[in-house]
Amino acid sequence: MVVSPERIRSLHKYEKAILAALERQMKRYEWVPLESLEQATGLSESEVTYRLSRLIAWGMVRFNPVPYDGYALVFGGYDTLALTTLTKKGTISALGTKIGEGKESVVYEALGLGPVAIKFHRIGMRSFNTARVNREYLPENGHCPWLIASKLSAEREYLALTTLHPKVSVPLPVGQNRNAVVMALITGPSLSRCRLDEPDEMLDAILENVREAYRLGMIHADLSEYNILIEDGKCVIIDWPQWMETNHQNAGTILERDITNILAFFERKYKIVREPGDVLRCVTG
Ligand SMILES: Nc1ncnc2c1ncn2[C@@H]1O[C@H](COP(=O)(O)OP(=O)(O)OP(=O)(O)O)[C@@H](O)[C@H]1O
Ligand SMILES: [Mg+2]
Repeated sequence: MVVSPERIRSLHKYEKAILAALERQMKRYEWVPLESLEQATGLSESEVTYRLSRLIAWGMVRFNPVPYDGYALVFGGYDTLALTTLTKKGTISALGTKIGEGKESVVYEALGLGPVAIKFHRIGMRSFNTARVNREYLPENGHCPWLIASKLSAEREYLALTTLHPKVSVPLPVGQNRNAVVMALITGPSLSRCRLDEPDEMLDAILENVREAYRLGMIHADLSEYNILIEDGKCVIIDWPQWMETNHQNAGTILERDITNILAFFERKYKIVREPGDVLRCVTG
């Protein structure tokens, strides 16, 4: 769960200072000692422990008593730091309701200059074990792999959006900080939940976008009817953090899998049959 905007607004400046200090110190410690937080913030022990107890209750920080009293940031705290920065920059002015939750992210509606979506990346320990083969950017070790990996994942998705927009139909990128990506809010259901009037045309449009992304050097690598939204009869391809470069050694296999997924969906639901080999040649040609 992401921390509520009211909670973030009500954060005391000492609590913000402690979150920021924790983030910095987690490069050195798995569990940051109490004394380091006192030193970093210049606050007394009783003030720091009081503020920490609140941050723990709000799901922003975790405590571990062995072998010494140590504290660590958790996703709630990292999300809060990202939101605080994005609010300060004016990218976001209000956080709305949750609109999606995947294995590796949680997505909220929010208000920026207009309606936006904010996606908090959450590459946790579980994802490390089941990391998709192409996620080569995941760090091997370090004190805080989830924090680094979640930030890298967000940066990677933002890079894809800024590279592809507007040539490829993806959400307009609006901003990025830490594990968060802010983009235009797409209003419409996923391809999986639509009943298309002209499925042939839609399939053509999707493949044309895949082709254009390929020309720009990118393969989605997780393309499916769930990662395509339909807004005003137009397809918008979302969920890009795992994109792969077209010159990667597995590019051919991954592109083929993307295409096969989409063709299989259109065959299942709309009885449209196309030859994957022909489509692949058309996309890469
Ligand atoms: N820009 C957006 N506008 C509207 N809704 C969005 C947007 N981005 C994401 N969503 C919603 O949030 C859901 C999850 O987003 P996304 O697919 O990017 O993340 P994910 O963690 O990869 O999810 P999953 O693992 O289930 O594929 C989407 O299925 C969609 O419903
Ligand atoms: Mg998805």
